Parts: sequence; structure tokens; C-alpha cells
Amino acid sequence: MQTATELDVLRTAVAELRDGGRALALVPTMGALHEGHLTLVREARRRADRVAVSIFVNPTQFGPNEDLDAYPRQLAEDARMLEAEGVDLLWAPSVAAMYPAGFATSVAVAGVSEGFCGASRPGHFDGVATVVCKLFNQVRPDLALFGEKDWQQLAVIRCMARDLDLLAPRADAIVGVPTVREADGLAMSSRNRYLSAEARARAATLPRAMREAIARIEAGEDVGPTLAALAEALAGAGFAPIDYAELADAESLAPLRSLGPRPARLLVAARIEGTRLIDNMPVSPRPG
Ligand code: PAF
Repeated sequence: MQTATELDVLRTAVAELRDGGRALALVPTMGALHEGHLTLVREARRRADRVAVSIFVNPTQFGPNEDLDAYPRQLAEDARMLEAEGVDLLWAPSVAAMYPAGFATSVAVAGVSEGFCGASRPGHFDGVATVVCKLFNQVRPDLALFGEKDWQQLAVIRCMARDLDLLAPRADAIVGVPTVREADGLAMSSRNRYLSAEARARAATLPRAMREAIARIEAGEDVGPTLAALAEALAGAGFAPIDYAELADAESLAPLRSLGPRPARLLVAARIEGTRLIDNMPVSPRPG
């Protein structure tokens, strides 16, 4: 595995990897890798001839009072994990290489980025869209893979790629990979390591309460009271505040007050012991 930390080295490495028309997949990450990231890498290897992974803790997607400084950084360990997975190229730029002095451009995706995490983390998705747009232009992959755990992020990136003709002409170039979960159902996240053992045990209420709410909604119970019961279950387990616990159209992310004929998604963001956890799960549409 080659590691590039400067753009000129990256470009040469990418040209060599693509030589002979080989397909290149990119897995963008912020490092602190876990099984969820490795699942993306394995899926990338299945779909492409060569795999590049980026590790960059992107400062522009963190708000002023968020965990940028505390965010776990373990580049040497991450590189060993990627090497063992047969990754061909690691792109690990510095902040100065990604955002040189005078950097003044931002990508904003209207609509789909505005509710949910966009409302509770102002500017977050501008930072995500900007850095992912740059990563696409730097690596020029044929396809890129993202975890469905960040469902809204995936929707924002799909919209940006379509609108800006990034990764065209492949319509399936942005691949969403289902969330990988711990044995008790908690979605894997680099932030789970912030939790004390006690909060970590209580955090399993999140996926459990979501599954219960989904079963009720799919059985025809009213959405409003079911979401209120979900929020109550989370509060009872020590989650506070609950940023949102909402049913939405799976594609447009428009909030839903009742289940319709289109696929829906239950989305939750809540803090436990100060750590913000997010999760989402599919909700089957009402049979036509
Ligand atoms: O999901 C993440 O790890 C980040 O938001 C991403 C897509 C790598 C952009 O910094």
C-alpha cells in the first residue's frame, strides 16, 4: 500500500493505479477505523480493480463547540488495518494540503441538507460536501462508498454528485453500504469509544427502541404518538437532548406524519453522556 500526503504524489499514484483502464474505488473516511469502515473497503474491493482510502479529519464539518480536537487520530494503526485489507493507496493529506492559505470556496447543497443534522449542526454539510467534492476531484475515482449510518450525508453527497456531474457518467457511482452493528445492535461509530461502560450499555436502547417504533408504525399505529414513545424510551435510558427522532421519506428526507406508499426511514440523533449518536433504519412502505 502506498501512502500519499501531498497532491502531486497522489496524482502520480492514482495514474499508476488506473493504468490500463482499471476501475478505482474511493472510500473516504476520517480515520479511527472500525469494522464499519473495513466493510466499506471490502465492498470496494468487490466492485473495483483498485481501492484508495482517504483519512482526513475535516475541520470544516465540525462546529465551534464540537469534538474536532478530541476526535480520535491513529494514522499508523489505521494504515496497518488498511494494508491488511489489501488497500492499494492511502491518501492522508494535512489540513494545509487540503485547505491551503487563501482557500475560499464552499459547496452548499440546498434542501436535503437542511433538516435533521443540518439543523442541529449548522454548516456541517457544507463542510462535508466541500471536502468530498475535493476528494472526488483529487482522486477521480470511478465509484465511492459511504456508510448508510450517515443516511443524510449519503443523500447530500448523491445530490451534489448528480448536480455537479461528479463521477459521471456512472449513475451508480455513489454506493451506500448498510450499517454495521455491534452485537447489541448499536451502530458502529468512531465516537462510541467516548462512552463509559455504563453509558455504552444504556446506548443499546437506541437501536432497540427504534426497532420497536418501526414495528408499531409498520403495524399501522399513528406516527406522532409512536415517535413520542420512542423519545420517552430514549430519555428514560439517559439520552438528552434528543436532537430529533423522526420519520422521513427515504430519498427526499421530507418529514412524514403518516406512512405512505414510498420507502421511509426512521432517523434519530441524541446525546448520551455528551456524545452525539446517530442512527437510522428503513421503514417498509404501506402496501399499495
Ligand atoms: O463520514 C465521514 O467519515 C466524513 O463525513 C467524510 C465523508 C469522510 C467527509 O469528511
